[in-house]
Parts: sequence; structure tokens; C-alpha cells
Amino acid sequence: MQRLVIEGDTKISGEIKVQGAKNSALPLLAATILGKTGSVLHNCPMLSDVFAACRILSYLGCKCVREGDSVIVDTANLTHFEVPDELMREMRSSIVFLGAILGRLGRCRLSFPGGCELGPRPIDMHISSLKQMGVIIKEEHGFLDCSIPKELKGAAISLSFPSVGATENIMLAAVLANGDTEIRNAAREPEIMDLADFLNACGAKISGQGGSTIYITGVKELGGCEYSVMPDRIVAATYMGAAAITNGELSLQQIRPRDLDAVTPIFEEMGCSVYPYADRIFINAKRPLKAVKTIRTMPYPGFPTDVQAIIMACLCKARGTSVIVENIFENRFKHAGELRRMGADIKIESKVAVIEGVPKLYGAQVQATDLRGGAALVLAALSAEGVTSISEIKHIDRGYEFIENSFNKIGAKIKRV
Ligand code: UD1
Repeated sequence: MQRLVIEGDTKISGEIKVQGAKNSALPLLAATILGKTGSVLHNCPMLSDVFAACRILSYLGCKCVREGDSVIVDTANLTHFEVPDELMREMRSSIVFLGAILGRLGRCRLSFPGGCELGPRPIDMHISSLKQMGVIIKEEHGFLDCSIPKELKGAAISLSFPSVGATENIMLAAVLANGDTEIRNAAREPEIMDLADFLNACGAKISGQGGSTIYITGVKELGGCEYSVMPDRIVAATYMGAAAITNGELSLQQIRPRDLDAVTPIFEEMGCSVYPYADRIFINAKRPLKAVKTIRTMPYPGFPTDVQAIIMACLCKARGTSVIVENIFENRFKHAGELRRMGADIKIESKVAVIEGVPKLYGAQVQATDLRGGAALVLAALSAEGVTSISEIKHIDRGYEFIENSFNKIGAKIKRV
């Protein structure tokens, strides 16, 4: 079992290029199968979740080759419509293959993605939406068996919550459906725009992405394209957090500052100076951090739940009392218990966390509880007194490309043992 051993009292400074976005790369890899020839995805991050998606593609009959930061997918021989249970379990978000496989083959069988580290993650909206499009779904023995007796048909679908995954699955199924689809109360995340742009480059007809209603006119077939995955806004926020908690300064490169519009003001409120310019952000955090007014996680363009743990780590060392309300996932404060082992003062009551800033955090043996919670522990460890050992780092490897290498380039002292 690997661990990260992190020396504390470091200062983050320098320049860093931000990797491609995991949450965009995964649906894009699933989307490649809708085209009959294949596609090339550039800026595709080297992550265990991306490898898991490539293993699913290979199982389905595609050829999937990595060349540097590009993944080349040849979809000409796609034949299988089933995703085995062990591949589904490896990556809960593989549910996004459902819409794509149905769109291409008209049949799909995959296991039900059970509970995950963020609490129960239901897929009722995915299922009811696909049913409205003419898909028959049988749930038996933990498997979803989906078929299309007549045709996949466009539908007007209203989501009760702007779910990212459900919006993606509907888009993936709708691009090759017969007729028009309208997704009301659709997710507006930048990753949805990336998926729409990719599909349109393959010949789809999607408009309205980025707004609350997405319109899709089904086409007969899709081709392939070359596409560059958008930069990872959550990884960018993690680097900003590392600069903030260590009172350092950092220039982030190859990002889209506007994707961070809900996050940047929080760093400013903590006392950091943030300068977005073109595809860069410069953050200077030389002053002691200050507590912030209540932060509430919301669907985009609100404050992202994926940045909640990262900001919580910073607030542990901010002067004063801060409050975070987690509105998206039920069980997303597990990292608080681990931060407490490092000396943090955090109280949790249901979906509310109250963080009382402390002058110092201390190195300890802690465990990554989930992907972003693990990243929060890395940040806390960088600024702690003494050495921290983080176990269960498989969670961190799902979303951060060689985290020790990138952080060590900007002043961290992290070893993987
Ligand atoms: C995606 C992101 C994840 C991010 C989340 C919210 C990927 C691979 N993952 O996850 O990093 O934290 O968006 O921004 O892109 N829900 C239901 N029924 C459904 C679908 C969702 O009740 O059918 C609930 C979920 O349990 C959750 C909320 O809706 O409480 C948001 O989920 P959703 O937006 O679907 O998140 P994911 O697509 O799973």
C-alpha cells in the first residue's frame, strides 16, 4: 500500500501548468464511441480513472492507445454492450458510458453503481430520463439491463436537480436519437460545455449548453474528431489552496480563469491577491489568512462542492470562524475528522461545518477518505509542523496526475513510499 510522506513548513512558489480535467475527459472518452471511426483526445490527464475508462473502451472492443498526453480511440470494432462489474466498481462515474453505449448499439448492460465515498449516489434521474427516450430498463441482481425495442427518440426532459451525470447521459443518448430533445434544468458546468463542443465537432447538433436548457437535434450518424480536453478547474483551485495555506505565491498556467469565478473571490476574502490574465492566474498569499463568511456549495455557477474540502483545509489556518454548508452531497465532510487529527478545530452538524482557525497544524498519520478530501490533507500537510503520512492515496491518484512530482516542482517535499 502506497503512502505520501510530506514534510511540513514548506512554501509553495513558482509556476505550474494545470492538467486536463478528469471530469471532462471521462465523458469525452465515453462519447468517442458514438462516432464510427474514432477520435483523438489531447490534454488527457494520466489518472487511474482515465485508465479505468480506457479499460472499459478496450473491453467494449475499441482500440485505445496513449501517446504522450493524447489518447487515440479507434471505435470501428465496438461490439460489446456490457460493462463488467469489476470495471464499474473501479470507477463509479462509469455510469456515463450508459447513454453512449445505448446511442451506438441500442443495448447496454452494466452493474448498478452502488454507494460511494460521498454517500449514496442515486441514478434515478438518469434512468427516468432514458425511459422517456424509449429505453426499457430492467433492474435485476444489481445489474441494469437496457434495451430499445422501437427507437431511441428525442424527448422534453425536465430534471428535478441539475445533475451533471444525468445531463451528460441524456446528451450522449440524444445526439443519435430520432427527433429533438430538450433538457430543462440542465447542469451548466463547464464540463457539460466541453462535452457539447466535442460532440458538435463530431457532427452532433447541440445548442444552449452552458444555459439551463439544452437543445439537441438527433442526427443519423457521428464521425470522430481531434479535441483538447479543457483544463481542470478543481486542480487549479487545489494549487491556489496550496499557495494560500503556505503563504506562498504561484502562477497557474493553461487554465480558464472564468471557470473559477465562484472560487477566486473566496481566496480574495481570505486575504490573497488574485490576478487572472488570459489563460493564467497569479495568486499571492503573503498575508495571514482570514476567516470567510458562509460558503455554500451549489451547482455551477455556484461554489463547487469539489473545492469544499480544499477551502476547508485553508480555513483551518485562517484567523477567525468560518462556516461551510455542503448542499450537494450528503457525506462530504469525512476529511474533517482527518484534519482534526492534525490539530484543526472543526465542528460538523449535518450539512454545516464550523471551522475555528488555529495558528498551527501538526504532522500526523492520516487517511485520504475520498479524492478531494485527500487533496485537502496534502494541503494541510504542506503547512503543518512536522511530517504527515497519508494512506489510502488511491483516492488522490484518481484525480491528480503524479501529485508528488507536480507539487515538488513548486516547493513541496513529498515522497511516495
Ligand atoms: C459530478 C462530478 C463530481 C462533482 C459532481 C457535482 C464527474 C465524473 N463527477 O458527479 O466530481 O462533485 O458532479 O458537481 O463529473 N443525484 C440524484 N439522482 C440522480 C443523479 C444525481 O439524486 O439520478 C444527486 C446526487 O446524489 C448528488 C447530486 O444529485 O447529491 C449531484 O449529483 P451529480 O450532479 O449527478 O454529480 P455526478 O455527476 O455524480
